[in-house]
Amino acid sequence: MKKATKVLTLALAMIMLAGVLTACGGGSKNGSTLTFGTNPEFPPFEYVTSNGVIGEFDGIDMAIAKQIADENGMTVAMESMEFDSLLVALQNGQIDAVIAGMTATDERRETVDFSTTYYTATQVMIVKEDSDITKATDMADKKICVVQGYTGEVCVQEMGYSYEAFKKGTEAVLELVNGKCDVVVIDSATAKKYVGDNEGLKIVEDASAFESEEYAIAVQKGNTELLDKINASIEKMLSDGTINELAVKYTEEATAE
Ligand code: ARG
Repeated sequence: MKKATKVLTLALAMIMLAGVLTACGGGSKNGSTLTFGTNPEFPPFEYVTSNGVIGEFDGIDMAIAKQIADENGMTVAMESMEFDSLLVALQNGQIDAVIAGMTATDERRETVDFSTTYYTATQVMIVKEDSDITKATDMADKKICVVQGYTGEVCVQEMGYSYEAFKKGTEAVLELVNGKCDVVVIDSATAKKYVGDNEGLKIVEDASAFESEEYAIAVQKGNTELLDKINASIEKMLSDGTINELAVKYTEEATAE
């Protein structure tokens, strides 16, 4: 090799190496960050605490998100926002994925893609212990509270009942505790947490009125690369019992009935 060629080759090699270094940005294995969006107002799936699994965020979903990132050599980041803003932020590319106890509905499937189901839930009614509500149709002449944008709101809407929508589950439950509404319609596991945290409340189920709901992680439409990674992790966590263990840890109850 001529000296000039050698120098050129060396220079090229150095440029390529520099390119690789900047592309990876150093840091963790492949250097990338997996940014999830959530709305941490939904125990046992996501809530804010002093010492959570991802910074201040804790819950079943937070542990799942962290494991997905870990398994793929990525750093996990969590952005907190209103529930209604999550899918918009996903479409804008502000976040890579949504993990928020989110039910994979046909309407949402029009704008985003969903992962494999990792948890199955249903809507239930939270009422005062002495309530005469025993089935969904008993809500017809009652004051109903829901959380804005949740599937519980959609259910009550479809039943044709009027209702009041709150920003947070805790606000709706407070309204019930204070006797300003008769029933809160919300997801089962979250309802159990609220009933455990407040005196004088109970849960009423009505399987004929409320269908089962499948929680899944949302990604941008067509982002199969990320979806494949997420699905591989979820399937592993389902088959090796991790998700069941998390459900037990965070609710003292297993997912398997
Ligand atoms: N499963 C319900 C839905 O998809 C409620 C989810 C609320 N999640 C939350 N992180 N606030 O609408």
